[in-house]
Amino acid sequence: MKYWLAILCLLFACTKPIVQEVNLIPKPQKVEINEGAFSLSFNTNLIVDSLFYAESDYLKTLLNLELKGKGNTIELLKKEGLQEEEFFLNISADNLKIEASTPIGIMRGIQTLRQLLPTKKGVVVTKIPCLEIHDFPRFSWRGMLLDCCRHFMDKEFVMRYIDLLAYHKMNVLHWHLTEDQGWRIKIEKYPKLTEIGAWRTEKDGSIYGGFYTKEDIKEILAYAKTRHITVVPEIEFPGHSAAAIAAYPYLSCTGDSINVGTEWGVYKDIYCAGNDTVFAFMEDVLTEVMELFPSKYIHIGGDEAPKYRWEHCKKCQQRIKEENLHDEHELQSYFITRIEKFLNKNERQLIGWDEILEGGLAPSATVQSWRGEEGGIAAAKSGHDAIMSPTSHCYFDYGLDATDLKEVYHYEPIPAELTEAEAKYILGGECNMWSERAPQELVDSKVFPRILAMSEVLWSTKEKDYDHFYARVQKHYSKLDAMGVKYGFESVPITSTVLFNADSFAVSLFKGSPDMRLEYSFNNKDWQAYTVPFGVNETSTLMARGFKNEKPYGEFEQEIIRHIATGKKVNYTIPYSRHYKGTGDNNLTDGLLGSVENFRDGYYQGFSGTDFEVVIDLGETTTFSSIQTTFFQYYLSWIVLPTVVSYAVSEDGKNFTKIETIANKISLMQEGKFKHTFKVVSQDLKARYVKVKATTVGKLPKEHPAAGSDAWIFVDEVIIE
Ligand code: ACM
Ligand code: ZN
Repeated sequence: MKYWLAILCLLFACTKPIVQEVNLIPKPQKVEINEGAFSLSFNTNLIVDSLFYAESDYLKTLLNLELKGKGNTIELLKKEGLQEEEFFLNISADNLKIEASTPIGIMRGIQTLRQLLPTKKGVVVTKIPCLEIHDFPRFSWRGMLLDCCRHFMDKEFVMRYIDLLAYHKMNVLHWHLTEDQGWRIKIEKYPKLTEIGAWRTEKDGSIYGGFYTKEDIKEILAYAKTRHITVVPEIEFPGHSAAAIAAYPYLSCTGDSINVGTEWGVYKDIYCAGNDTVFAFMEDVLTEVMELFPSKYIHIGGDEAPKYRWEHCKKCQQRIKEENLHDEHELQSYFITRIEKFLNKNERQLIGWDEILEGGLAPSATVQSWRGEEGGIAAAKSGHDAIMSPTSHCYFDYGLDATDLKEVYHYEPIPAELTEAEAKYILGGECNMWSERAPQELVDSKVFPRILAMSEVLWSTKEKDYDHFYARVQKHYSKLDAMGVKYGFESVPITSTVLFNADSFAVSLFKGSPDMRLEYSFNNKDWQAYTVPFGVNETSTLMARGFKNEKPYGEFEQEIIRHIATGKKVNYTIPYSRHYKGTGDNNLTDGLLGSVENFRDGYYQGFSGTDFEVVIDLGETTTFSSIQTTFFQYYLSWIVLPTVVSYAVSEDGKNFTKIETIANKISLMQEGKFKHTFKVVSQDLKARYVKVKATTVGKLPKEHPAAGSDAWIFVDEVIIE
């Protein structure tokens, strides 16, 4: 019996075709894999429709073969009636055929073929699996923003990204070229834009900068053309313009000279909307931009333009009166509409960030939705095209704690609120690579592998299968390695929960990718494999490290502080913000501190526009000698220290005796990110209840870029010892 079964199994195995695995990202619309392979060699011949000569030149370079043989054939053929990017790729043992209606479709097909090629170099005969693919994109706009302003990126790097976009069937490079911290495009009529505006003096006195000459840009655009990637330039109006104003101070409301920005964030000096020479400047700059860039769309920014200067500018106020505008938002709309008229006159279309909705949308503008989906929804509902890049899923400058591979993969660009007819206005989406925290050498680690998910969101069908995608990503890494991509992690590689229970902290570690293993230690001693949660009962530095495919994959460090109030109950007089909850009601006594680098690390509680007041119940009368509370400041994110911190104690939780009030002496405008501790030390403190009160500055003052907005208080722990 056993014998027969073995024979049957053998027969079945022999008759079942040996189908090779193919691994494509983004996933094709339709793919059927067949038995056998096409052998690509010096014997292979190439037959090309004359429409596709440029693409065939690219293909020959890619394959590094003459393709004049007499054996099997590769064909690039025209097929009528397909969409612009649609193609068929049919591979049999003796014929490899790509068919499309346009050169763009052929290029997309060639990129699929490129992903099918083995990564090993120097093989004489290359085997390509037999298959049939019919592919086309779900969305026509599949973009990535590259911010070459906060950090300058060299010409070769930009071209490399154009190639990487093409490889993953993205089709738009949104090139962010002007900013507060640097103007990066040479404009003949305004030479100081690059003589002055392209260079900033860093805090250490060093000069940082760079710009693209017209020749550089032409070279980049010619390269993009070979890959059928559209490069959309972004020239920011009216905000994010400090570098231009540093070069030509007359462009601002005050006319005062300012420096090219060095801090990240939003600057209140913007172009004056009441001054006609600003509009002449705008037209001159855009004229030179349009001479270079063939793109139908020009992105004009429009985001984060504080209205403070306009509110206090005679010319801007005069303009509001003359044009019968209600307020500064309508003045912004007037500004953008004037740009739009100019672009339309030159047969170009305007794109702006979703702030261009405020005060009324310019008649034919396309909206790029970034502050959530709302901008895209409003645009589509009013019959305007929209590009989706909400911070929730598309900001690749954000850490993996905010947006990891899986979250990007599950992004759906069509908001649920839209009807089928309205959904047609969603052209597609973009992932945004802002570079405040990413000089060129770090960009790969932020973009990859997340862009693999984005390419699939924008190209493939709506149906999701994360496990399948994840398996393909694992196989895709060897291709990225071959292209020298220094990809980063898929998600935060190591996270923890630390819970104080009775008399000790219970520590659990979690791995960010399923195929990792973890090790941990205390204070970098006695490393051991992590298998199950463990306990810690004293102040220590917990360290962990991860491995994937036996290569290091992430490190982790966490201070655990054991003090008298650890695990004790906290009563809030004023509730914490639902946006910054920290670890919840026990955040202030959980033994875990927030970091300076990342105030979104989950260990801070935030209070917006209100004071902070809590009472900690130690459970019984306790003797102690110090109380300290640490607050965080980063004024560009509107988080500032309290003006005063006061401490009081009580036996009954009702009648409190004040111990000390400590005034803050640090300026609200002090630059950078830092923590500051307010500490009281006294030998004979004895109480059950401890009250901590911190007074907010309330509204941000006029010297702040976001003057008038609510200030945040951020606090991580109240330590009693
Ligand atoms: C943006 O992120 N300020 C568009
Ligand atoms: Zn003005």
